[in-house]
Amino acid sequence: MISPIGGPAGQEGSSRSIPMANAISAVLVHRDPHERAQLRAALAAIPGVQLAGERADVRAGLAFARQARPAILLLDLAPPVDDTLVAASQFRLEHPEVALFFWAVSYEPETLVRAIRAGAQEVLRRPLDRAALGQAVERVATLSARKNGGDRPRKIITVYSGKGGAGVTAIATNLAITLKRQTPLEVALVDLDFQSGDAAFALGHTPTRSLGDLVGAGALDSASLQGALLRHESGLFILSQPDQLERADGMAPDQVGTVLDILSSVFELVVVDAPHAITDVTLEIFDRSTVVLLLAEPTIPSVRAVRRSLDVFHRLNYLVAPDRVKLVVNRCADHSDLAVADVERALEMPAFAKIANDYAAMSRAINLGKPLCSTHTESRAGRDLAALGRALLPGVAKQPVGAGARERGAGLRLFARGGRS
Ligand SMILES: Nc1ncnc2c1ncn2[C@@H]1O[C@H](COP(=O)(O)OP(=O)(O)OP(=O)(O)O)[C@@H](O)[C@H]1O
Ligand SMILES: [Mg+2]
Repeated sequence: MISPIGGPAGQEGSSRSIPMANAISAVLVHRDPHERAQLRAALAAIPGVQLAGERADVRAGLAFARQARPAILLLDLAPPVDDTLVAASQFRLEHPEVALFFWAVSYEPETLVRAIRAGAQEVLRRPLDRAALGQAVERVATLSARKNGGDRPRKIITVYSGKGGAGVTAIATNLAITLKRQTPLEVALVDLDFQSGDAAFALGHTPTRSLGDLVGAGALDSASLQGALLRHESGLFILSQPDQLERADGMAPDQVGTVLDILSSVFELVVVDAPHAITDVTLEIFDRSTVVLLLAEPTIPSVRAVRRSLDVFHRLNYLVAPDRVKLVVNRCADHSDLAVADVERALEMPAFAKIANDYAAMSRAINLGKPLCSTHTESRAGRDLAALGRALLPGVAKQPVGAGARERGAGLRLFARGGRS
């Protein structure tokens, strides 16, 4: 991907909110000491960037980069341009993992095309736009975090039912809170069910910010997404549907995909309240989901509906990866139409978890806008949800409350400031 960046400075600070788990190293090669100093200062001002070294000469710069193996090589497109491009493309062939940024005086289309052919990821130009440079670095950081996978688990957990009213919102919201409480991880809940759009309400929030703010917004990036998040008192972040339905309607499947990509680059766990119909939007969600929790109720109509969902999943190859789709039987009770074993037999699938039918606790939680897991951990459904959380992330123990929690919070400082508790 190439993004020509440059032009007048502006939007200062939009790139400063991204938590970068690992430092991004850069090598700077520029013949002019004054411009080199400017670029050095701009790079140094981006949180998480470490300048591994700088050189004035292209040949010396590339030799240094071969040793230093930076994440970013920022290279002045010095004349003779042809020689620089040939040397840069040779370097890219040897080190495809290094992101190549060119600094170009000429911004002619022909120069851009040649830069692309040489493997440039970004082309910068005078006057330096620091915000755009920050965003370019952020793209590299995001990509590298995704490639490395990080040392913490990163998951998109989607709660789905082909039939309405099966408990998707109840389980997605309560599971998100449970995971936030049980683990030291950063957790976001995203309500992608635009027809119901009630996840924020279930957590006691009126969606004053929402996905609706992103529809029609020029750029869908981490900065705009951050502005659309709500913050729950538990520390969970919520990306809600807007209060007015028509604003949510406009979200195209690829936008939904981008929202999930950005969320999963920032949050270690993303819980999705998914729409019921299988549409292009749902496919974008499933394609990105590490786990799909498929809800069934212990009734014959529900089992039939789940069977149909499984057939669709089979056709879409979602069942090829073992354990990606997990069956959760919701509203289990002693006197249910079917026993859990009957559901498992009918669906030829083991139940990964079961959640008790706990009408009193659920309706109390929903009416109060307080999640089950924050106030009613002693309830049967609350206990089952806690067990589901543990089963999804075995071994991810909660750090002791205190130092660890403060440290982790620091990475998302801006989110915390931007959110509402
Ligand atoms: N385990 C449970 N015990 C008791 N009631 C439950 C349970 N799970 C869900 N419910 C209740 O069932 C109703 C429907 O649940 P919910 O809104 O979560 O379903 P949904 O699949 O999100 O439906 P929608 O089609 O509206 O999106 C709610 O009133 C909720 O409180
Ligand atoms: Mg719902």
